[in-house]
This record gives sequence, structure tokens and C-alpha cells, in this order.
Amino acid sequence: MTSVLILNGPNLNLLGTRQPEIYGSQTLDQISASCRVWASDTGLEVEIRQSNSESELVEAIHRAMNCHDGIIINAAAYTHTSIALRDAVQGSGLPCIEVHLSNVYARESFRHTSFIAPVAVGVICGFGSIGYRLALLAMQSLLNSGESKPSAS
Ligand code: DQA
Repeated sequence: MTSVLILNGPNLNLLGTRQPEIYGSQTLDQISASCRVWASDTGLEVEIRQSNSESELVEAIHRAMNCHDGIIINAAAYTHTSIALRDAVQGSGLPCIEVHLSNVYARESFRHTSFIAPVAVGVICGFGSIGYRLALLAMQSLLNSGESKPSAS
């Protein structure tokens, strides 16, 4: 069965109470439960992880090379800072879709830069938790069509 890693970065464990006007009122556990249903509806197996540590996120991407076919990542603040995560995604050779709950382009300018987007297949932002559902659908379609190569070298 096609398998996807959903990786969530720092502070996303605080969803539910963290700035609900921006990120919504659902907890990460609630979003993860929805992701499991959406993945099974889409015919995908899913592993869902969250870490506040950059090195743990890098290691999760490395492990994904052995057991997953694609990565959906909300790297949260590391999106805007982490060359290590970008290199891990690129080095994994796995198709990656970047997700953000909020529309980062409607927010502070430091959120307009993503180190990961250039090595991702695509980016989904601004749709709240539904963004993960869209990403799962996109990943399923990519993996079925075989057009899953990252667009940047
Ligand atoms: C976020 C957007 C990031 O800029 C921010 O640092 C987050 C969450 C989002 O899902 O909207 O922690 O990735």
C-alpha cells in the first residue's frame, strides 16, 4: 500500500489553544484523526508525527526513505529558517508537499520565504486543516501518475 509521512513542526502541538483566530480551534490530535480518515478514504497508509526539534524532523525524513512513498510537511516556523530540513527533503528523493494552516502570504513578510517550497512538488496554505486533505489527494494523484519528482535541483 502507498504510504505517506505527515510531519508537523514546532508549536503545532499547541493547536487548539495557540492563536485560534489564525490556526483554528482544532487540536493536532483532532486534525490527525481526520487525516487518518482522509488517508484511508484516499487509499493511503499514513504515519503522523510532530516534533519541536529540528534534528528529530530531519531524522524522521531520513527514516521515511525506507518506509514511505511521499512526505506531507508542515514545518511551521522551520519552514522559514531551516536549510537542514530543505536538504533532508531534497536528499530523501521523496515527493514532498508543503502545507500551512494559515495563508502565510497574508501575514508577516518573514513568513513569505520558504526554504522547503523550492524542493517541494507544491505548497498548500490558507485552508486550515482541509489543507492536509488536499495534500493527501494531491499526493495520491502524484504517486499514481508517477509525476512526483521535485521541481528544483
Ligand atoms: C504555519 C505557519 C508558520 O509561519 C508558523 O510559524 C507556524 C504554522 C501554519 O501552519 O500556518 O507555526 O506553518
